[in-house]
Amino acid sequence: MERVQRVAVLTSGGDAPGMNAAIRAVVRKGIALGLDMFGVEHGFLGLVKQEVKRMHLGSVADIIHRGGTILKTARCNDMFTPEGVAGAAQTLKNTSIHALVVIGGDGSYRGAQALHEHGLHVVGVPATIDNDIVGTDRTIGFDTAVNTAVGAISKIRDTASSHERAFLIEVMGRNCGDIALRAGLAIGAESLLIPEVEYDLEDVAVKMLRGFKRGKNHSIIIVSEGAGDIWQIADKLRGLTGFDSRVTILGHIQRGGAPSAEDAVLAAAMGSKAVDAVVNSSPEQETPISLMVALDCMNIVTRPLADAFEGERVFDRDLYDLAGDLAI
Ligand code: F6P
Repeated sequence: MERVQRVAVLTSGGDAPGMNAAIRAVVRKGIALGLDMFGVEHGFLGLVKQEVKRMHLGSVADIIHRGGTILKTARCNDMFTPEGVAGAAQTLKNTSIHALVVIGGDGSYRGAQALHEHGLHVVGVPATIDNDIVGTDRTIGFDTAVNTAVGAISKIRDTASSHERAFLIEVMGRNCGDIALRAGLAIGAESLLIPEVEYDLEDVAVKMLRGFKRGKNHSIIIVSEGAGDIWQIADKLRGLTGFDSRVTILGHIQRGGAPSAEDAVLAAAMGSKAVDAVVNSSPEQETPISLMVALDCMNIVTRPLADAFEGERVFDRDLYDLAGDLAI
């Protein structure tokens, strides 16, 4: 393998706060190590459409604190076809780029893996608000999304108290309930409905009635979007309790905003680690690297990209049970 000199970075999948901090770290660490750095716009679609541009120190100035991604992101169906993957790989080869850092979620990692099979070095940096990538304890964007949800739910709690209502609040996460779990524990929600744990709305109703009977003047029920249809859940609970209730869907505000300090630091460390992994890929090795950066306890490590496609995510059942114990 040739020694890597030219490296590209792209963002893919749903955007997440901290992606810009990760882009900045990749570009500036690469330049610091003497590499030629490139950015691909609109994710993998940018490879197919040859939207590759040189990145300099100034290209990533004043972005560390900004949500979203300056490289944009886009869904790319071409990457599901061999021809699309070959075209994307050719774009990189035509510009003598031998390594690609992919900042995104597990779907993005599948695109990276496909390019690896065309001889490219690929490194995944886990960035999605869902926190649902196997192999890392945390994904970039998750902490910010939890804080955004907590801020919004706290405001809802005020009006719920004033009107002595029950509020059902839907948070994002696809099939992962981590945003609901941590935001719910942080705000003291009465009930959490998440995909990982079966629930019985009759139990939720009993808990609501018991709370109001004990003098509570509101009830906050957080519903992870993967746990069911919030409107049907609200209707059923209204029927079981007779309580005045409202539904709020937080939606895409969880995807925006300045990254928390936690996410900005995680992004910087992970982006830098990705470039180290590319540079440390010895030219003598037969096959290009295919790695993902991960948080393992307090350490930033690399592991085979394939780890993201195997096994189950670790669900913190103890934290879930604690939330239930404390919200009596
Ligand atoms: O994967 C991040 C995420 O925000 C999920 O939590 C959510 O279900 C999905 O993206 C929404 O996708 P879109 O932005 O395409 O509507």
